[in-house]
Amino acid sequence: MIISSTADYREAARRRLPPFLFHYIDGGAYAEQTLRRNVDDLAGVALRQRVLKDMSQLDTSIELFGEKLSIPVTLAPVGLTGMYARRGEVQAARAAEAQGIPFTMSSVSVCAIEEVAPKIQRPMWFQLYVLKDRGFMRNALERAQAAGCSALVFTVDMPVPGARYRDMHSGMSGPNAPLRRYWQGLTHPRWAWDVGLMGKPHDLGNISTYRGQQVGLQDYMGYLGANFDPSISWKDLEWIREFWRGPMLIKGILDPEDAKDAVRFGADGIIVSNHGGRQLDGVLSSARALPAIADAVKGQIKIVADSGVRNGLDVVRMLALGADATMIGRAYIYALAAAGEAGVRHLLALMEKEMRVAMTLTSVARVADIGPDLLVRE
Ligand code: FNR
Repeated sequence: MIISSTADYREAARRRLPPFLFHYIDGGAYAEQTLRRNVDDLAGVALRQRVLKDMSQLDTSIELFGEKLSIPVTLAPVGLTGMYARRGEVQAARAAEAQGIPFTMSSVSVCAIEEVAPKIQRPMWFQLYVLKDRGFMRNALERAQAAGCSALVFTVDMPVPGARYRDMHSGMSGPNAPLRRYWQGLTHPRWAWDVGLMGKPHDLGNISTYRGQQVGLQDYMGYLGANFDPSISWKDLEWIREFWRGPMLIKGILDPEDAKDAVRFGADGIIVSNHGGRQLDGVLSSARALPAIADAVKGQIKIVADSGVRNGLDVVRMLALGADATMIGRAYIYALAAAGEAGVRHLLALMEKEMRVAMTLTSVARVADIGPDLLVRE
């Protein structure tokens, strides 16, 4: 199979993974309208083509929170990454390091923080959910700090889990889920072998380390289901702000008023995101939400945007709409599931190449010059 895009990696991942995992990655909430709009609205952003400006000295790099990034892209936190490839978090972190960008580890990863951090030189970012179990949150923050994680991504758009029909059909969630997951694993022996699951329950590193006992996928789904915290509000975040010494980003902002609250709260950055269309279906795509948010807070706080980015051209589009940098979720996860670290490296190299093409044909030599001027005004 010839692989030249995220769509190709998606197809390769679909062939390799058991259905319950492919649909968990690929799917969104309810009728998946926001999921589709994330991709379609971004792909529909028209840029002004400009020519004959000598684009031979082009620079795709940026500086973010004192770190140099070779391209304005970061790897999003994705739960259960080690289920899509063997020690998946380590492989993804290595690929990010090779490209010169940060990897964000999900708090609900398969590998523990302590397994991944020593495998790379570059500090990773760490993502935390709001859980009722504040002991887990505190423990995770202490461990992330001890492991040298450079930034904290605090995800706030999951006070309750979204309704994902595909997961109920596939056996990822719902009353018969454990049994169905078990059968689906058995019918995909190559995948089970590849990820090291043959006959063994999967350990969930961060939660297992905290609990001092092995926690498998079934316990994990139950633990999370019982632990999302709908009572959370800005004042609950104060202790984290005080505890965490590095930059803190609030992930899951979709409204200018919330963006202003994040500035007032003292966050260093926001991540404009609808969780890849996995939470509340029908909300605005990130591409459509972003310009008003940028108008409200640009320059006061760093704006990272995700949900819908599939290639290097999309990165330039998000920046033109007002972001300082982007995050990618599914794009790299498909590549990881299809071809491990090499796949993610290849995908990131493709994105860099595509960014160069987009910058050349819009005549911007530096990332800082990518802004609303690039947009076609109808
Ligand atoms: C996610 N996302 C996510 N976000 C987070 O803060 N913590 C997490 O553990 C997860 N887990 C997760 C699993 C899977 C399978 C997906 C696809 C996504 C959301 C993720 O960080 C990001 O916001 C979206 O993936 C961005 O949208 P795209 O790039 O997938 O369109």
